[in-house]
Amino acid sequence: MIDTHCHLDFPEFDPDRDEVIRRAKEAGIDFIINAGSSLQNSISSVELARRYENVYAAVGIHPHDADTFDKNTLDAIIELAKKDKVVALGEIGLDYFKNFSKKENQLPAFVSLIKVAKDIGLPLIIHSREAKADTLRILKEAMPVSAVVHCFSGDEEFLKSCLDLGFFVSFTCNLTYKKAQNLRDLVKQAPLDRLMLETDAPYLSPEGQRGRRNEPANVRLLAELVAEIRGVSLDDIARATTDNAKKFFRLEG
Ligand code: NI
Repeated sequence: MIDTHCHLDFPEFDPDRDEVIRRAKEAGIDFIINAGSSLQNSISSVELARRYENVYAAVGIHPHDADTFDKNTLDAIIELAKKDKVVALGEIGLDYFKNFSKKENQLPAFVSLIKVAKDIGLPLIIHSREAKADTLRILKEAMPVSAVVHCFSGDEEFLKSCLDLGFFVSFTCNLTYKKAQNLRDLVKQAPLDRLMLETDAPYLSPEGQRGRRNEPANVRLLAELVAEIRGVSLDDIARATTDNAKKFFRLEG
């Protein structure tokens, strides 16, 4: 299995990063994609991929950080995106839920970063929260692009629009939450050949571990739940989501 989105470079993992990566391996998580969320985190993401054989990096600027996005940041991201083991641009997108950065800064940052990915030939990891219409509009204008909508949330209509554009959708451990019946319905509807799994660790710990740090090993628990919801075997889910991620991120092995 593959954890297609987490933040192992975050300080939460400073005390025991080696252990966390070892536990993931033991749980059958073969590869980990570490997402970039700021320039500093993107630098750390590349560094992490250099240090750990089974870790790959994405580089990007989270919409929360769009207010400080400038030409220097853009140039630095372009250089990072060309580094070894960088397999995607992300996470990038729009977040009108928290609005930590102004909408008028989020939009042009998103557009510029999509262009970087297209120029270099990398797929996108999209963060979209309470911003469905603008996310779809910008991505449609940028087509053709290859994208995964991470931590998928929303409704059937958004799911359909994403699938129609050829995108992948990725689900996190928030699928285990009691109130997340809508997500469990959506994960059932997504075609098996468009599905990926992720933890978004250290965030979104599964039910029963809430308040604690999440980690990539929990992809196994997530895969088990998805298998149960869809009425198929764990093997089927593991194989399909792994194949999807390998193709999407062009991982060897
Ligand atoms: Ni994330």
